[in-house]
Amino acid sequence: MTQPERTSVSDRIDYTALPDDFVWGVATSAYQIEGAVSEDGRGPSIWDTFSHTPGKIDNAENGDLACDHYHRWREDIDLMRRLGVGAYRFSLAWPRIVPDGDGHVNAKGLAFYDRLVDGLLDAGISPSATLYHWDLPQALQDRGGWPVRETAEHLAAYAQVVAEKLGDRVHHWATLNEPLCSAWIGHLEGRMAPGLTDLTAAVRASYHLLLGHGLAAQAIRAAAPDAEVGIVNNLSTVEPATGSEADAAAARRMDGHTNRWWLDPVHGRGFPTDMRELYAVELPERAGDPQIIAQPLDWLGLNYYFPAVVTAEPSGPPPHARQVRRLHVPRTGMDWEIDADGIETLLLRLTHEYAPRKIYVTENGSAYPDIVRPEGTVADPERTRYLHDHVAACARAARKGAPLAGYFAWSLMDNFEWAYGYDKRFGLFHVDYATQRRTIKDSGRHYAELIRGHPRRSSPHAA
Ligand code: FCB
Repeated sequence: MTQPERTSVSDRIDYTALPDDFVWGVATSAYQIEGAVSEDGRGPSIWDTFSHTPGKIDNAENGDLACDHYHRWREDIDLMRRLGVGAYRFSLAWPRIVPDGDGHVNAKGLAFYDRLVDGLLDAGISPSATLYHWDLPQALQDRGGWPVRETAEHLAAYAQVVAEKLGDRVHHWATLNEPLCSAWIGHLEGRMAPGLTDLTAAVRASYHLLLGHGLAAQAIRAAAPDAEVGIVNNLSTVEPATGSEADAAAARRMDGHTNRWWLDPVHGRGFPTDMRELYAVELPERAGDPQIIAQPLDWLGLNYYFPAVVTAEPSGPPPHARQVRRLHVPRTGMDWEIDADGIETLLLRLTHEYAPRKIYVTENGSAYPDIVRPEGTVADPERTRYLHDHVAACARAARKGAPLAGYFAWSLMDNFEWAYGYDKRFGLFHVDYATQRRTIKDSGRHYAELIRGHPRRSSPHAA
C-alpha cells in the first residue's frame, strides 16, 4: 500500500472535543449503489421511471446495475473494514420491501437488509438506516405521490415493518434524507424524480414529507423503543452576493427555503410565516399535525456540501433568488464552491438555534474525475484536502460547543449520482463500472489515518 500524499493535509486535527464514542462512518443510498432493480420482487421506484425517461440523466445512465452492491455487499463491508469505520449509513429501498408502496411485504427484500445488518455487526460496524432516500415506490406516485397525505401514512406503515424486523439490531434510524431535494428539486425545479415543476405540488409534498417524518418516527419508536431517531437535512450557509437590500432580502428568502422551512416545523415552531406568505399555497394542515411533525428527536443529521451566495431573481420561482457563481473561488468537480468554514458555521447555528441533543454530519464529500493509475493507485489530492479541511472544521465546531456525535463521509464508493449519472465520483473507493472493481483512493487512505488518529476511537477496527 502506498501512503497518502501528506503534503497537502499535514495540519493536525484537534480531536480534543470529539467524544470517546465519536462515530466515524461512511454513507451511501440504495438506488445509488444496489442495482438489481428487478430482482427478488423489488417494485419500480420513481427513480427507475425518471432515469429511464430520455433527457433526464447525463449520458442516459440509470441505476439498473449501479455498483451491484445487492450482490457485492460482503465485499463492500470489507471496504469499510479497510477504512476502519465504526458505522455505515445506508438507506432501505422502500420498493424492495413494500413493492406497491403499501400492503404486501416482500420477504426477500427485507431479507437482504437482514443479511446486510448481520454482516455489518459481524464486522463490528454499526448500521445506521435511512428509511427514505428518494426512491418512492412508483405505485404511490401513480396515486398522487408526496402531494397527497396517504403517502405519509404509507411511509409510517413501511417504517413499522422495517423497525419490527431490524430494530433489535439497528439502533440508529433516520426517517428522511434531504426532504428539500424531494420537494423542491423533485416537484418545483423538475431536476429530480418525479420531475414536476409545480409550486402547489411542491409545497404540499414538503408538508407531507415532514408529516411522514413525524409519523415514521412514532412508528419506529413503537416497534423499537431503544431506537435513536433523527432526520437528515442538507443545509447551506446563505450569504447575499452584494450589499444591496434586494440581495439581503433574497438571502433571507433562500435561507427560509433551504434551512428554516425544514428545521422550524420539526422543532415545534411551525412553518415559517414569511415563507408561507411567499409560497402562497395553502398547507394541507389538520389538527394535531404540528405535534406529529415535532416529534422529539434524538439527533439531527446535517448534510453539507457548499455555501450559497445568492442574488435576487424576481422572475424565478420562489424563493425568487438564485445562486451566483463567484469567480476565483475553489470548486469541486460538481462546480460547487468549497468552503469548509461553512460546516462549522452550520453546526454552531444548529446548536444555538435548535439545541439538538446530538448532531451527526450524515454526509459530506466532493466529486472529482479520478483515474486509476497503471500501478493501481488513485491520487485525489483535492478530495483528500476537502475531507481533511471539513473534518478539521467539524472538530472546531465541537470545541466551540456543538454536540457533534459523528461524521459520515459521502461516499464509501463512487456511485450513481442522480441526474449526473456516473461521471461524478464522490467515493473514497473508485469503482470501475465495467468490471465492478473497487480501488481505494488516497483520500480513503487519508480517512483511515484520520480515524486512527482519534486517540479515543470507538471503532474496534481502527486499531
Ligand atoms: C446529497 C444526496 C446524496 C448524494 C450527495 C452528493 O444531496 O443525499 O445522495 O447524491 O448529495
